[in-house]
Amino acid sequence: MTANYETHEHDVLIIGAGGAGLRAALEALAQGARVGLVCKSLLGKAHTVMAEGGIAAAMGNVDKSDDWRTHFGDTMRGGKFLNNWRMAQLHAQEAPDRVRELEQWGALFDRTPTGDILQRAFGGHTFKRLCHVGDRTGLELIRTLQDRGVELGIDVFMECTVTRLLKDGDRVAGAFGYWREQGRFAAFKAKSLVIATGGIGKAWRVTSNSWEYTADGMALAYEAGAELMDMEFVQFHPTGMVWPPGVQGILVTEAVRGEGGILRNKLGERFMEKYDPKRMELSTRDVVARSIYTEVKEGRGSEHGGAFLDISHKPAEYVKKKLPSMYHQFKELADVDITKGPMEVGPTCHYMMGGIRVDAETAASTVPGLYAAGEAAAGLHGANRLGGNSLSDLLVFGRRAGKAAAEFAAQSSAPNIDPSQLADAEREMLAPFERADGEFPYPIHHDLQETMGALVGIFRNEEDLKKALVQLDGLKPRLAKVRIDGSRMFNPGWHLTRDLKNLLLISEAVTRCALARRESRGAHSRIDFPNYDTEWEKKNNIISNEGGSMKLQQRPVPEMPAELRQLLEEKK
Ligand code: FUM
Repeated sequence: MTANYETHEHDVLIIGAGGAGLRAALEALAQGARVGLVCKSLLGKAHTVMAEGGIAAAMGNVDKSDDWRTHFGDTMRGGKFLNNWRMAQLHAQEAPDRVRELEQWGALFDRTPTGDILQRAFGGHTFKRLCHVGDRTGLELIRTLQDRGVELGIDVFMECTVTRLLKDGDRVAGAFGYWREQGRFAAFKAKSLVIATGGIGKAWRVTSNSWEYTADGMALAYEAGAELMDMEFVQFHPTGMVWPPGVQGILVTEAVRGEGGILRNKLGERFMEKYDPKRMELSTRDVVARSIYTEVKEGRGSEHGGAFLDISHKPAEYVKKKLPSMYHQFKELADVDITKGPMEVGPTCHYMMGGIRVDAETAASTVPGLYAAGEAAAGLHGANRLGGNSLSDLLVFGRRAGKAAAEFAAQSSAPNIDPSQLADAEREMLAPFERADGEFPYPIHHDLQETMGALVGIFRNEEDLKKALVQLDGLKPRLAKVRIDGSRMFNPGWHLTRDLKNLLLISEAVTRCALARRESRGAHSRIDFPNYDTEWEKKNNIISNEGGSMKLQQRPVPEMPAELRQLLEEKK
């Protein structure tokens, strides 16, 4: 390293402080590692809180017949069999223990009359499976992990953005970043790294994601040599707010439907009868999002371009108890009392099923010493994630990533970092201040979101996707010439410039994969290829960095063992 930088040294460095990052940090700490956790935002301010309705775990507290096998089957069917079967198996088997552990650490769940953790219905889950705390489950999960992390003394670096991973030969050696407040640079040396930075929601204008979600971890890993997988699968949650414009996209939890909420179009028709008469509002998210989109497109939408979601047939006290956040959200932001009338809702970009390709057991990427968990990692959810599986995902695989990263660190010597890597990273960050002319980053972000929203949205076709690639290509030279005024202190334009690099790179990966997959499956709907293609069921799209160019190839989905295949047949 070099004396020019503020430097921190750990065995394991975790990037991202949502549920996956915190759970990984706790596990690495439990293994005896020196753990650092660096996050772009404040500790605990993470998209995890947007999984409001619950954690999916086959506890069998409400429906006694539930077990991991049924959860496994639901997850595979929801993911349209593109899931990594081993991840789906581990997830279903381990989720109940992870929930119990969370409870031991202080999470306060809603209860059944006999005192067990209460579970509710959610789309695509055969049984009432979502352990919940009203409609604030993600928040309670984060609060619990955060309290425990602070108590155990995790070394936390808040409001520090990592801009580059550092390497020692093939292996990772640390990270380079800057403090958002002061603009000073910092270097983190570590024997292993866990990426837990979430998804790419800010590539779309209408999104449930907040400003942090700019695909940072996926881009960092790709640039460091890791593979990305199945990037075409972006989840549009069926219900975001649509009105007033300033709050468009904010999540309306699936728990509203889980508690009996009904969707209607402007004619008063319960339109899910047409699209999925069996599961109705509790169909999977891909189906419900497409249904609402279709109703609006065909002229049966609400005044502001959505559908009506109504829970007012339930007693007001029940609604306020089960959905307190929704009650306040609509009252305060839209002046709507949801105990008296319907909400206006429409699809909002919510979650990325694709991400860094990892090993099922250890969450290891293809780069030695680099691990990934939570939304940043691919595999568990296949072509479409079931609601509630995100929280159990980040607990199960956050723990596995933290454990494996600590074990890797314990067996490794301290890495060497060539100072030229730091100098390069610094040069890259300072370049926008040195340009005499050039554009500001905001219009570029606007144009990126327009492209992704119009051409890489819920329904796709070849012509649009090709057009999107041309438009994304056109943004690259503009981004390369961005100019930033002012100083490095508190400079949001500078921050966005960095974020845009990641957004643009990963948006290209999404679009390339979407163009390649000539079928419709889960969240990926091709108007020009509206059906499943059994060949594509057996293929993952893999993106890699070949000397600076993006390479896309297909690889066979790992073969499922006979006993699990049989289990799926039995549970059909
Ligand atoms: O609707 C929700 O509460 C979101 C849950 C999830 O994305 O898992």
